[in-house]
Amino acid sequence: MKIKILLLSAIIAMLYTTCTSDAYNPDICFQENVLPIFVTKCSMTDCHNSTDHKGGYDLSNYDGIMQGVKAKHPLESAVYNTIRGNNPSMPRGQKLEQKDITYIKIWIKMGAQNSSNCKSCDTTAFTFNGRIKPLMDNWCIGCHNATSAGGGYNLTDYNGVVSAITNSRLLGVLNHLSGYSPMPKNTNKLAYCDINAVTKWVNAGYPNN
Ligand code: HEC
Repeated sequence: MKIKILLLSAIIAMLYTTCTSDAYNPDICFQENVLPIFVTKCSMTDCHNSTDHKGGYDLSNYDGIMQGVKAKHPLESAVYNTIRGNNPSMPRGQKLEQKDITYIKIWIKMGAQNSSNCKSCDTTAFTFNGRIKPLMDNWCIGCHNATSAGGGYNLTDYNGVVSAITNSRLLGVLNHLSGYSPMPKNTNKLAYCDINAVTKWVNAGYPNN
């Protein structure tokens, strides 16, 4: 009986942390997590770039984005109000991924600073054991382990991860490129900083450190 209660409280605690973790996340950084969303989804030619600034908005840089942001108040921020909800008016024709919308909201809530090099983006510390393995453990190994190796890849250890690199599959699946199965399967792309971390580590010759 006691065990059941313990288990139940553990589950409740887990649910609670999952649901509230959106509220504050020091790893969400303007330069690495938020700006790329605006750059790739809003500030292309004929939209919100520095020459066309449609609707008066140049969303290609911090100062421009701040024209539509009230720090700490996402619901009073034009930039956030146009992208949220079921039928957002922006971006035209394609709703942002939920993760991107959440990032923007949290970033505004946290004060909308022009922040960079947050913990997960700290490029000096991209080791296999410090950065890549924890990421695989969080996002991949449920479907890529010794007994169930999705696509033949067991990502629980260094060699397995390397095989996905040497077959030229890892970066393609993470970036959801065409011709690759988008990973993690059935969900959004990883955060920009996470994909950056993997890319930089791969480009550095994927050291086993
Ligand atoms: C929910 C289960 C699931 C998760 C989570 C998942 N995968 Fe996969 N993955 C699969 C399955 C199933 C396949 C084989 C079928 C396919 O390609 O869709 C696969 C295939 C792959 C492939 C080969 C696909 C190709 O196009 O070459 C790679 C590489 C891969 N996964 C990497 C990852 C990485 C890295 C993560 C974590 C960021 C991840 N997967 C998370 C289930 C998953």
